[in-house]
Amino acid sequence: MAGKVRIAIIGAGAVADYHHVPGIMLDPRAELVAICDPNEKLLAERQAKWGPVKATTKYEEIAADPEIDAVIICTPNFTHLPITLACAAGNKHVMCEKPLGLNFDESAQMFRAARDRNLRHMTAFTYRFAPSMRYLRHLVYSGGLGTPRHFRSQRFLDWPETSWGWRQYKKLAGAGDLFDMTIHRIDYAQDLMGQMLAICGAVATYAPRDKNPDGTPCAPSEVDDWSALICQFDRGGVGVLEGSTLMKGYHYEGFGHDWAEVNGSEGTAVYQLKEPNTILVGKQGQSLQKIEVPDEFLAPAGSPRDPKVGVPSTVFRYDLVWEFVSAIVEGRDCIPGFDHGASAQAVADSVLESFDKKSWINVPQDLG
Ligand SMILES: NC(=O)c1ccc[n+]([C@@H]2O[C@H](COP(=O)([O-])OP(=O)(O)OC[C@H]3O[C@@H](n4cnc5c(N)ncnc54)[C@H](O)[C@@H]3O)[C@@H](O)[C@H]2O)c1
Repeated sequence: MAGKVRIAIIGAGAVADYHHVPGIMLDPRAELVAICDPNEKLLAERQAKWGPVKATTKYEEIAADPEIDAVIICTPNFTHLPITLACAAGNKHVMCEKPLGLNFDESAQMFRAARDRNLRHMTAFTYRFAPSMRYLRHLVYSGGLGTPRHFRSQRFLDWPETSWGWRQYKKLAGAGDLFDMTIHRIDYAQDLMGQMLAICGAVATYAPRDKNPDGTPCAPSEVDDWSALICQFDRGGVGVLEGSTLMKGYHYEGFGHDWAEVNGSEGTAVYQLKEPNTILVGKQGQSLQKIEVPDEFLAPAGSPRDPKVGVPSTVFRYDLVWEFVSAIVEGRDCIPGFDHGASAQAVADSVLESFDKKSWINVPQDLG
């Protein structure tokens, strides 16, 4: 591709500001050229902060604009499918936030729309980019832990019990903690251990969330605030995953407790979000020890990001844009793609089905 990759942000809310725009600003191969959001006041604030780029309230204009190469979709979950389909029809490469769709069928449609036009497609599974997760993956695939047997993740957040806004309504979000948080852990579990063939899942809701943070009333939550599953992977391992937003005492400066480990025949390794530049490792007969993640895993190869700058639990999130732009420039698939997003969605859907039927579910795999 000649010149810079011209990127539009669709949905100028929290995650666009926290992850994606800083990622674009760091990448000399990329340029933020347009932003889109129905909230005109927010658009004006973002233009003041991000620079005087084109702004529109209609994503259809972004999809049709020949001066835009790629889009990053950071909107509420129910809009991901129509915006992706419009942008793919306009020949834009697409990174979309997770969960990719409201269900597996939507996510698979998004995958096919991008694949059939030979566009780059990426699911924003942020935690794959944490240095200790990248190193844990290396240990698994280089045989450093022997044969992987067990996977375990815990995502515990100590959040207020007030309204989650659009996130607490099924039509807008699909599900709660399961689609917001556990879906990331499903993704990295599959990345480390292989596809989940069968799962048994459960969800629960404790917080009514019938008040806004300012105390005014609102319609109560319809979605889960705790989710869990046990699973069998296609490479022979087994896993147990649990997440909740109601874990009192697990605040840790807002980052919560995010723990993932693989227990292999030769050793164990543990990722933790609150210390993403270190990893815990141990062999048989030892106790887990903290070691520094080697330098080559602190940031992607070639990235100008200095891993010593900024809050470690925040700054690796900028590497999503590096991967998206690298795939566009190099003409290769993004990792993780929409196929990975759809696969995680198939598992998350199966958790709801399993709980509903009170039985194990064979996870659907066919993306069409
Ligand atoms: N990868 C991660 O770690 C991570 C973190 C946070 C959020 N997310 C995901 O990002 C998405 C957005 O979350 P958020 O926290 O930024 O939400 P948010 O509510 O802060 O922002 C969403 C923005 O989208 C805008 N919007 C709504 N409909 C739109 C449309 N049709 N066209 C353009 N803009 C539209 C809203 O006005 C709002 O400004 C969600 O899918 C969420 O699950 C992912």
